[in-house]
Amino acid sequence: MSANDRPTGPQPTAAYDSAFLKACRREPVPHTPVWFMRQAGRSLPEYRKVREGIPMLESCMRPELVTEITLQPVRRHNVDAAIFFSDIVVPLKAIGIDLDIKPGVGPVVENPVRTRADLARLRDLTPDDVPYITEAIRLLTAELGETPLIGFAGAPFTLASYLVEGGPSRTYENAKAIMYGDPQLWADLLDRLAEITAAFLKVQIEAGASAIQLFDSWVGALAPADYRRSVMPASSKVFEAVRPYGVPRIHFGVGTGELLGLMGEAGADVVGVDWRVPLDEAARRVGPGKALQGNLDPTVLFASTEAVEAKTREVLDSAAGLEGHVFNLGHGVMPSTDPDALTRLVEHVHTRTAR
Ligand code: CP3
Repeated sequence: MSANDRPTGPQPTAAYDSAFLKACRREPVPHTPVWFMRQAGRSLPEYRKVREGIPMLESCMRPELVTEITLQPVRRHNVDAAIFFSDIVVPLKAIGIDLDIKPGVGPVVENPVRTRADLARLRDLTPDDVPYITEAIRLLTAELGETPLIGFAGAPFTLASYLVEGGPSRTYENAKAIMYGDPQLWADLLDRLAEITAAFLKVQIEAGASAIQLFDSWVGALAPADYRRSVMPASSKVFEAVRPYGVPRIHFGVGTGELLGLMGEAGADVVGVDWRVPLDEAARRVGPGKALQGNLDPTVLFASTEAVEAKTREVLDSAAGLEGHVFNLGHGVMPSTDPDALTRLVEHVHTRTAR
């Protein structure tokens, strides 16, 4: 591809030829790129140190701190991409939803969103609501140079699960009660969240993020027919809204084996796969024209180095025929993971896949 064929838009050219962005575009790579969901965070002692005494949401609003935390795993592990340090509920906080992130629990919403009147609280997000995001990404892209920065947001269903339940849930009974019982309210809620999510991703891309990931972590709770009818339109709307920028769009969820085909259809360029479906089978389900991201079970990192390498080989063998592969865990790094095991894993994947 010549320089003239490159997608236009505000994407940073410094990272354009990185292994990560090439794999997302299904181009040949010098080695399989690696990054980890939740690579910035509690597994790192240097993270725990700089976060001391600063509440999670407040730390997301301090650009210098966000920059430092985002860079920590890049320095330590030699990963092929940085993921912006923030949280999926940051845009909701920014438009005035009364929520907090409780340590060891997760996002908690004081007044859950459950009625049509509640929708009025979900106003549009503008760049002026999140100046600290723009500033942090400008600082970061200057520091990162050729290392790509992944921006991210929560997908409408996963955001709705917190907003409607009022906190983490295993069953999503309040959210599903609306989805099944008042489909029009549900559709309007997800559409509102799609608008907010798209606006939040645009801020990150405009500021310099060179790829984005939409986290639909909890969507595996749905049957395919319900996903297609009640969730896919909103997620597709988000992907469509950011398509003109030409940056790779990654779509991730957990327990999504039965949904992979529909997630492929929803519009992303890269589909994230958890550890329950081998990547070759995932590729058959997702269909052609997509790169895949994944999918080592995060708990494998608690086993011996030999076991980690054996399980990694299984993932790489399974990925051998893919159009594009970004190595990752099947879900986020667990806080008690030994950071050295992550460093060794990056090195191992790079060495084994060097072409
Ligand atoms: O390194 C990275 O991946 C970037 C940072 C990141 C965070 N949250 C920081 C964080 C990302 C990408 C997220 C996304 C996120 N947040 C998701 C989707 C990813 C997934 O794991 O499926 C979800 C579901 C949330 C909601 C959320 N926020 C949860 C479940 C928690 C954990 C609660 C806990 O304490 O166990 C949070 C808080 C949170 N977000 C932490 C971090 C580092 C922990 C808070 C802390 O360090 O004090």
